[in-house]
Amino acid sequence: MQDPLRIICEDPLERKWIWLSLLLAVVAGLVLGVYAVASNVHPPSNVETIDSARLHLTEEFGEDNLGVKTNPDGSVTVTMVGARYGFYPPRVEVPVDTPVTFRIASADVLHGVHVPYTNMTTMIVPGYISQVTTKFPQTGEYSMLCNEYCGLGHDAMWSRLVVTAGPVGGEAPAGESSAGESSEAVSSGGES
Ligand code: CUA
Repeated sequence: MQDPLRIICEDPLERKWIWLSLLLAVVAGLVLGVYAVASNVHPPSNVETIDSARLHLTEEFGEDNLGVKTNPDGSVTVTMVGARYGFYPPRVEVPVDTPVTFRIASADVLHGVHVPYTNMTTMIVPGYISQVTTKFPQTGEYSMLCNEYCGLGHDAMWSRLVVTAGPVGGEAPAGESSAGESSEAVSSGGES
């Protein structure tokens, strides 16, 4: 059979290298594909817009509604705001082996969130609500790190994710942790 690459290339040595690089591309694609399927990695699939400058005036991302809520079917929804330089609430507690849906919005610039040793990671693009559903198979304390450079405090932008063995009471979304924050004054001032 004649080499199909002859149409674009006369030199046999060069054609060998073209074949080799094509093969490498296919192998790399297969490795990534198998890894993505095996580790349940998936691209963000939620396109939902929101006005980042008015987050505190929305119902869902109002300060009082942030945190962990247990849904009627037993799954958990975590509503968070990423803002320079932190995630709010700064500590969330979710049950182990339970579907957890994160809904996160940025109040200012581009952030990312990454929980090491889990498959929880997403960008938080201003103007959009990032939504990720995952399960945490192991209990423990995890860091939620910002992984998109967002300013001078970027490396200090992180919060705590606690995966607990028991069910989590959804009523009190980390109420005490937000006391004394300046954003409280901002949100109550903008209501009228
Ligand atoms: Cu937020 Cu880097």
